[in-house]
Amino acid sequence: GELTCGIDIGGTKIAGAVVDAEGRILVEEQVESPATDPTALEATVASLVARLCAGLSVKAVGVGAAGYIAADRSTVLFAPNIAWRNEPLGADLSRLTGLPVLVENDANAAAWAEARFGAGRGVADQLMVTVGTGVGGGIVTGGRLLRGAHGIGAEIGHLCLVPDGRLCGCGNHGCLEQYGSGSALVADTREAAAASSLLARALLQRAGGDPAAITGPMITAAAQEGDRFAIAQLARLGGWLGRGLASLAAVLDPALIVVGGGVSTAGDLLLEPMRTTFEAELTGRGFRPAAQFRLAELGVRAGVIGAADLART
Ligand code: BGC
Ligand code: NA
Ligand code: ZN
Repeated sequence: GELTCGIDIGGTKIAGAVVDAEGRILVEEQVESPATDPTALEATVASLVARLCAGLSVKAVGVGAAGYIAADRSTVLFAPNIAWRNEPLGADLSRLTGLPVLVENDANAAAWAEARFGAGRGVADQLMVTVGTGVGGGIVTGGRLLRGAHGIGAEIGHLCLVPDGRLCGCGNHGCLEQYGSGSALVADTREAAAASSLLARALLQRAGGDPAAITGPMITAAAQEGDRFAIAQLARLGGWLGRGLASLAAVLDPALIVVGGGVSTAGDLLLEPMRTTFEAELTGRGFRPAAQFRLAELGVRAGVIGAADLART
């Protein structure tokens, strides 16, 4: 089938792949994201595209980017965790790569991939939440991606959960992202480990005794080996996400909630507390059908696969 290239630009990593019309990956690569320097970031993406597409006949590039993408599906209006302000990302990348480039929000792209090829196949009304550097959202309603009037709908990470709460990269206080992201998980766990070094002993051991050296993968690995402290950190994160999703379900009534992003590699250790809080806080609970929860089937590759697919249409 026809090949397209998918790129997923996150706050810490850039992933890329060449993908066929059935969503299968032919080649893939991941690099660090120079998130504070837009020019370096574009150059990094362009050379990644060139490496991935070498020797293949690729028709177009789809870019999933962690920011507010204008309705032109090319300009990044704003990004909370990357230094983009009214950035002509699509036009620049098209010039640098010599290929047509379509830009989509990263979580929208991931949601699209899961709806077409992954956990949400055949489900018309679903919501995806991506848990990584930020908290992303993608909403499929009636089989179509919800973009809103200006292309920037479904920013569920910036749902206000805590009035006057933690300051967010978007300029507001108390956003879900400040409590339910991978960044929040790491920051909160470091703080908890510093305050309760005995409870955190096993996790601290992985970090060479230094709370500031604790990483997301360390927390997940410790939790998977049964460490109660690490399990509790993931449970708290899941609780925040479940609470935010319960509010969203009051508005959207999805049949399915797909959970992806880097932190979703923790699997049920994240999903179960999420579901428990969701079901405990859902409006009309007990008297209405609740959404199902599923892990992203395409895992952390959902973004690149979705971006590549959107570039095809
Ligand atoms: C951004 C979203 C993005 C999400 C996940 C949020 O901070 O506002 O545009 O989808 O992070 O990367
Ligand atoms: Na989105
Ligand atoms: Zn915010």
